[in-house]
Formats: sequence, structure tokens, C-alpha cells
Amino acid sequence: MNILTIILAAGKGTRMKSKKEKVLHKVAGKPMIDYVIDTAKNVSNKIIVVVNNEQQELISHLQNKNIDFAFQENQLGTGDAVKAAVKAISEYNGKVLILCGDMPLVEDESLKEFIEKSKDNKVSLISTFMDDPTGYGRIIRDGKKDFLKIVEEKDANELEKKINEINTGIYLVDFQYLKDALEKLNNNNAQGEYYLTDIVKPGSFVFSVEDSEQFIGINDRIALSHASKIIYRKRALNFMKNGVTIIDPETCYIDESVKIEKDVTIYPNVYLEGNTTIEEGCTIYPGVRIIDSIIKQNCTIKDNTLIEESNVGENSTIGPMAHLRPGSILEGDNKIGNFVETKKITFGKGSKASHLTYLGDAEIGKNVNVGCGTITCNYDGFSKHKTVIGDDVFVGSDVQFVAPVKIGKGALIAAGSTITKDVPEDALAITRAEQKNIEGWVPKWKAKKSKKQEK
Ligand code: UD1
Ligand code: CA
Repeated sequence: MNILTIILAAGKGTRMKSKKEKVLHKVAGKPMIDYVIDTAKNVSNKIIVVVNNEQQELISHLQNKNIDFAFQENQLGTGDAVKAAVKAISEYNGKVLILCGDMPLVEDESLKEFIEKSKDNKVSLISTFMDDPTGYGRIIRDGKKDFLKIVEEKDANELEKKINEINTGIYLVDFQYLKDALEKLNNNNAQGEYYLTDIVKPGSFVFSVEDSEQFIGINDRIALSHASKIIYRKRALNFMKNGVTIIDPETCYIDESVKIEKDVTIYPNVYLEGNTTIEEGCTIYPGVRIIDSIIKQNCTIKDNTLIEESNVGENSTIGPMAHLRPGSILEGDNKIGNFVETKKITFGKGSKASHLTYLGDAEIGKNVNVGCGTITCNYDGFSKHKTVIGDDVFVGSDVQFVAPVKIGKGALIAAGSTITKDVPEDALAITRAEQKNIEGWVPKWKAKKSKKQEK
């Protein structure tokens, strides 16, 4: 069937109290309008999004999404918004599906069923039942339970407010009928707006759906958080069905774009974002956030670790409290321990940096042991310089590499050294001041101090 979808997104979004367009606010990591567009694409052949001229951020966000725009000049209500879309359509005599940009949870299946069941009617809508219907338009039925009209919250009397069957704001309308009905709208109501709800005439077909969760309209930040929770939980359950252990699906925040293989275990309060893949057998402990990264098989990411745009090779252990900044490429069997920060490095197979270290702009070979407190001094205040460390190098604790500097294979850097010159293969490099021991010095010093105090 030929279906054209109109998505309304030109509203002011006042209740959000935000500088940002309402429909660009993210629900579970993805702008809410994107959910609506994805759903619309699955049930229709053409999409028109109604925006207003001031929504530059929204307009550029929607570029290249294969949709058309209609511009609503003044925000005179949902009826006026649809009018703007209708004006932009020159010739058409099929069905129009109307969706709101602030309803990201609607499922394809519900829309498909709705379209199928209502295709023989001139105008129909979806209703559902909310435990708390506050804010929604109420479905008013006559004595025979047939549809009579929709009454908005602000126009409703006390009795009508008690009705919990609500208008989801989803309609299927014949284009010709829609055009005529819009012409007849007036704004004689509490908000002085042209209500789209008034196009639905008494006796019209109402498709009632039990599952109300998917029809949440996001008008404020409370609904925003509520909708996010629902989506995050759904995603978590889906991963669980596919062999991922999630200790607490209520506190597991996974973006739609993330891939997780089976036998991964995820502890509470974990955020997995963007283009991230977690391969088979990994364990992600509490408080971890991973963005645009690949974690290869059988890695353990310990508590409170942040990984950004990095690659962690198989069988590695990262954290607790480690920070892999963009461009950290770990080749596998690695250990990055407590309070270690890395940035733009390659770290060869089997290499380790277990404690309190900064490695930036470095090329580090295989089986290198980086001692506690090691720092690559990569920045001279003007530009960044590189540290290159060969295979099998042993770096003692508290070493500074003043880059640019190269350490040959198999070298040993003594603890406490500041390395400013290249070190040849298999050499020992040591830059410590010589130690002096003065025997019996402490008792004499203490005696002198206490005499002074007596005075
Ligand atoms: C609307 C319905 C209400 C329904 C609810 C479902 C009307 C009058 N009311 O109320 O019956 O229960 O949705 O969530 O239709 N918009 C424009 N231009 C405008 C005004 C709004 O494009 O001038 C867009 C908004 O950006 C939004 C959508 O239309 O995406 C709905 O508008 P909103 O103000 O959120 O309507 P509700 O009060 O939620
Ligand atoms: Ca709304």
C-alpha cells in the first residue's frame, strides 16, 4: 500500500525547558526523531517532516536522511502543522500516516497492524490506556461506546480528566479527506490552537492498543528519562536472549549501535556507546564506559575504566581505574592496570603497564614491562614527540622518557631514570645521582634539635 508519513516536529517544545530542539534530545543514546524516522521508513514510502525555519540544528541533522521538509511558519498547533505538510504535497490520493516526532517508542508491528485494520476508513487513530493519562488528549465515547471526540487535557472537565483512554497522536487518513478537514479547523479552545484532533469525526475507527508503554509522548525531561529506561531495558533483554549475561538490566546503558557477542558478562552501571564491539568471553565490571572501541575476545575490563576510540587485543586486562584515550591500540595479552592513562599508542603483544603511568604518542613493542610511575614526556609546550620502545625492554619504576627518544630491543632502564638520549639494544640506561650514606648522622641531628627546643 502506498503510504506517505507526516512527522510533526515544529513545535516549541516549551515543557522541555531547553535551548536544544525537543526532538533532538537523546533517548537511550539516540535523538528521538531518529527513532520515529526509522519506524516511518519501515511502514511507508515517503516521509515529510514538519519543521520551522528557526530549527537549524534539526534541519541539518535531518539532511541526508532521505526525507522531505515542510515548513510551518507559526506554531499554531498540530492541525496547522499538518496543513503545512499538505501544502507541500502537490498530487496524491493515497493514505497519510501522521506521527509525532516526540514518540520514539512506537513499534513497527503496531503501526503495520493499525494500517492493515484501518485501511478502509477515511480517518482512524490509535488509542491506548495510561495509568496516569495526565497531559494527553482523552478519548470521549458515546453511550454505545463509539468514538465521539478527543478532548485535550487543558480543555477537559473533571469527569473527562478521569478517563484513561488517550489519543496516541497517530492517525491514518485519506489525503483528500485530510485536506478538507484541515480547512474546517478552528482554534476555539483553551490553547487557541488548531488541534489536529478535531479532524477525527464521531463514529471514526479507533484502534486500541493494550501496551501503552510504546506510546509515551516526550514533552518533558521526566518522560525523557522514563522512555530511555524502557529502551535500555529492552536492549539489555535482547542481548540476554542472545547469550550475554547482564547482572542488572536496569542499570546497563547500551547504545543501539553496539555489538556484543555471546558469553560476555556485564556488571551494573556500564555504558557502552557508539561504534563499540565487545567480543566473546569478555567481562565488563561496574562503572565502565566504552565509546567507539573494539574489545577483542576474553578481555577483562575492571571497575571504573574509561575507554575511548581504542582497540583492546584479546586476553587483556584493563583497569581498575584506567583511561584509554583515543588511538590506543593494544595488540593482545596486555595488562593496563590501576591509574594508567594511554593515548595514541601501539602496545605490542604481552606488554604490561600495571600501575600509575602515562603513555602518550608511543610505539611500544612486545613483552615490554613498563614499571610503576613511568611517564612519556611527550609535550614540550609547542609540539608532541614520540617515544619508541623496542621488544622485551624492561622499564623500572619512576622513569621519564623525554621524547623524542628511542629505546633499543632488550634494553633495561633503571628505576628513577630520566631518559633524554636514545638507548642502544640490550644496554642498561641509568641516570641516577650517586647515593651517599653518612653513618650515625641521625642521632646526632636529633640531639642537636632537642637542645635547641629546651632553650
Ligand atoms: C498531542 C495531541 C494529544 C495527544 C498527544 C500524544 C493535539 C492537539 N494533541 O498533544 O491529543 O494525546 O499529542 O502525545 O494534537 N507540533 C508542530 N507544530 C505545532 C505544534 C506541535 O509541529 O504548532 C508538533 C510537535 O513538535 C510535536 C507534535 O506536534 O512533535 C505534538 O505536539 P505537542 O505539543 O507535543 O502535543 P501534545 O500536547 O503532546
Ligand atoms: Ca507531545
